[in-house]
Amino acid sequence: MALARRQFDAVIVGGGGSGLRCSLQLAEAGLRVAVFSKVFPTRSHTVAAQGGIGASLGNMSEDHWLWHMYDTIKGSDYLGDQDAIEFMCREAAQCVYELEHFGMPFDRNADGTIYQRPFGGHSQNFGEKPVHRSCAAADRTGHAMLHTLYQRNVRANTQFFVEWMALDLIRAQDGSILGVVALEMETGEPVIFQAKATVLATGGAGRIYQSSTNAFINTGDGLGMAARAGIPLEDMEFWQFHPTGVAGAGVLITEGVRGEGGYLLNSQGERFMERYAPTMKDLASRDVVSRSMDQEIKEGRGVGHEKDHVLLKLDHLGAETIMKRLPGIREIAMNFANVDPIKEPIPVVPTCHYMMGGIPTNVHGQVVVPQGDVPNAVVPGLYAVGECACVSVHGANRLGTNSLLDLVVFGRAAGNHVTAYLQADRSQRDLPGDAADLPLSRLARLESGAGGESVAEVGLAMRKCVQSHSGVFRTGALLAEGVQRIRDIAQRARNTGIKDRSKTFNTARIEALELENLALIAEATLVSGEARKESRGAHAREDFQDRDDRNWLKHSLWYAEGSRLAYKPVNLKPLTVESFEPKVRVY
Ligand code: FUM
Repeated sequence: MALARRQFDAVIVGGGGSGLRCSLQLAEAGLRVAVFSKVFPTRSHTVAAQGGIGASLGNMSEDHWLWHMYDTIKGSDYLGDQDAIEFMCREAAQCVYELEHFGMPFDRNADGTIYQRPFGGHSQNFGEKPVHRSCAAADRTGHAMLHTLYQRNVRANTQFFVEWMALDLIRAQDGSILGVVALEMETGEPVIFQAKATVLATGGAGRIYQSSTNAFINTGDGLGMAARAGIPLEDMEFWQFHPTGVAGAGVLITEGVRGEGGYLLNSQGERFMERYAPTMKDLASRDVVSRSMDQEIKEGRGVGHEKDHVLLKLDHLGAETIMKRLPGIREIAMNFANVDPIKEPIPVVPTCHYMMGGIPTNVHGQVVVPQGDVPNAVVPGLYAVGECACVSVHGANRLGTNSLLDLVVFGRAAGNHVTAYLQADRSQRDLPGDAADLPLSRLARLESGAGGESVAEVGLAMRKCVQSHSGVFRTGALLAEGVQRIRDIAQRARNTGIKDRSKTFNTARIEALELENLALIAEATLVSGEARKESRGAHAREDFQDRDDRNWLKHSLWYAEGSRLAYKPVNLKPLTVESFEPKVRVY
């Protein structure tokens, strides 16, 4: 089948914050850049980010990038790479001011500076007390950021392919990446997009869990594409549970509520975080707060008929503060929990929120893989940014607000690197004869209906399996059983079919393709989790309760072929400052 072919200097898969920050850099440099998005770009999941973007501006309390760096390393439970974390924290202020100058409508202080609120795990002077570091646009910071970046991209002539799904990378014999094959969702037509640089910016994959704050589009398409191209997935055992998802609905209630002074209560009306984190209390890091909530529930101090959640109290903040700083939260609480937080607390429970792992990259966004003795050899022509990438700045547990920061810092860095790379050489290489074979065979298999498995049934089985075998607390036995189950489910996910094309919308094909990606990620998650015999950050094992730096201060790498694991060292050397040596984490 001869496919239509388009050529661009760079193609970006994903129209969220990192993709748009990267494309802006490229388009403004005069490059021809295409952005693919399964949804209209301003509906990408960045739009759902609420509480803010972290930067040590010091507008409301004294702050320093080195304190931000320390908090991020400690928050990562020392698994984050210290060179990348230094890079991110030093660049933060400049990236936020850039957004401000792009027209992003941040909240303001009386003196005109950007409003900042405290957030979990962010502290003054190396853990002394909470600091105001989260730069916020009410509780709709991601919305404000995404619309700002989209508008700047329109002005810069970025070309958008809306409702297109990228299927697979095009690989040359020498391993270089030469573009992607993408599918127009409306027509079902696959097209070859040839590019000198390909940037994966497909966001997270929280839809492997049954209860998730993630949008339905978060199906880890970039990770699936990378894994099928032989690129390993890094640190996939580390999934963040946000402490405050609306109980029963999973919708996010920002940590900004606690930043503004809200706090958690158990069934006895006790502010229990005072026991678990005496200094930072409700503003301890997310892994600590989520485990504490889970513990309260397990010990019978949960709330409700099933005693399966706790309460988030904020009525004491007063109607004025709630309406000004947290208007979206009030709407969410009223719509999804049937409570008005001006009067009553919100029922909340830890909910899957963020993938710390992803496609391994360096600080320029270049995808890196182990090759012989070299742990981080560059894959020419391939970049990854945002949640789909693992730089790794979040290690075993991300701090709130560092996600939006990661998007703009590394989206911009990758844009700069691609621009320099293309200034040296803008010629396109010839495509191999088999450029589209892999995606075409996947499409043909789907349409033959060969395996006959139902996408809905396999998807549900996968979500239930991951939720029950890889939750806030894990055990070896639970994980081992999960590995067996998910291997079977992943096989079934490769055997789904669209039975009767004449009666099927193209969305059925998209869902089947998404499930293939999700199932790979679910398998990576369980296999990596079963192997890591320690507790670190968000990976809490009841059978190995301590962190084990001697054996496990290393990144895991999961390869799809053979579902096998390898490991590489953590970079404990920052760029310009002294290392922060691992120590016991207390908040
Ligand atoms: O709680 C929140 O507003 C989420 C922020 C984040 O994940 O960074």
